[in-house]
Amino acid sequence: MKIVVTGGCGFIGSALVRLLLGQEWSDAHRVLTIDRLSYAASTEALADVAGSPNHALAKIDIRSGEKIAGLLASFTPDAVIHLAAETHVDRSIDDPSPFITHNIEGTFTLLEAVRRHWRALSGERRDRFRFIHVSTDEVFGALADGTPPFAPHAPYRPSSPYAASKAASDHLVRSWHHTYGLPAIVTNCTNNYGPFQFPEKLIPLTIIKALAGEPIPIYGRGDNIRDWIHVEDHARALLAALERGHPGETYLIGARCERDNLAVVETICAELDRLVPDPAGSRRRLITFVADRPGHDFRYALDPTSACVALDWSPRITFEDGIRYTVAWYAGRRDWWEPILRRRYDGHRLGILA
Ligand code: TYD
Repeated sequence: MKIVVTGGCGFIGSALVRLLLGQEWSDAHRVLTIDRLSYAASTEALADVAGSPNHALAKIDIRSGEKIAGLLASFTPDAVIHLAAETHVDRSIDDPSPFITHNIEGTFTLLEAVRRHWRALSGERRDRFRFIHVSTDEVFGALADGTPPFAPHAPYRPSSPYAASKAASDHLVRSWHHTYGLPAIVTNCTNNYGPFQFPEKLIPLTIIKALAGEPIPIYGRGDNIRDWIHVEDHARALLAALERGHPGETYLIGARCERDNLAVVETICAELDRLVPDPAGSRRRLITFVADRPGHDFRYALDPTSACVALDWSPRITFEDGIRYTVAWYAGRRDWWEPILRRRYDGHRLGILA
């Protein structure tokens, strides 16, 4: 299959590209990664597949409709998996504007180019074409403690500028399916973690601060809850949605793994203490409660049961194993994150109102 992955140099996108091309560079797929190479992109995340004859990378912004159309015309994909997005809630608090332009306008421009490409396909290729839109559980807003996780068709109640921009893009995709018949699928996933995640997010930031012996910032009381999935389980779910998903459907992807933030940070500290003991004592001493995020959603959680059944997919990596792999990965990959800290983001607090 010929597959375009937008945002393929991002954290989740690159995990998907690595999966699609396979460790042995299987010939099952040809992949064209489209990425504007923003601050959070990493071409190193594709180093494993850089020499593959089945992979190409185009540095293009999805808002460049004509360039995207040209690429679709020459590559003639059977599927587009759309992950290009601004993703960090705290940055959306500091400056919502890139979230509106990239997540909403970008998705609109991409949809129009993909619609024209799909309409020009004939016969079986047109029937088999898929547009997979990768989204987040944050579009559903906050869950109260003790209530069941969100199920399919939960109402949209986005709270942050980031979540609102993803909600808008989900609505655009569904309307392109409803109005034009574009064979689109929407996936909403819980919080991801794993290798190559940009160190602005809770898990990599905690590991890096703990390794440096610096204060580990926990917003508020640390009782906010997130539902965690390893990025490689998410990538496998996206492949399953591509192979077995139905156009017009929405699949909720998650690993039934709710943890409050303090528990996540304590698990990371314990793992680091085991792996790289600190003569000064347990890293738990570094935990520092700081001012809460404005509008901080209390809890996110999804019920993935129907997606597991429909897609014949289930997560394989437990949180404990996943955190162990991830801590070991960051401890061993200073070559990846130290230049990021020097040049792109030094770990300072984001998302605080002036
Ligand atoms: P984050 O990784 O930003 O993901 P999201 O906001 O999309 O869920 O944050 C995860 C949780 O961790 C969230 O409740 C905010 C909290 N958090 C901290 O407590 N400290 C931090 O330094 C960061 C970045 C996040």
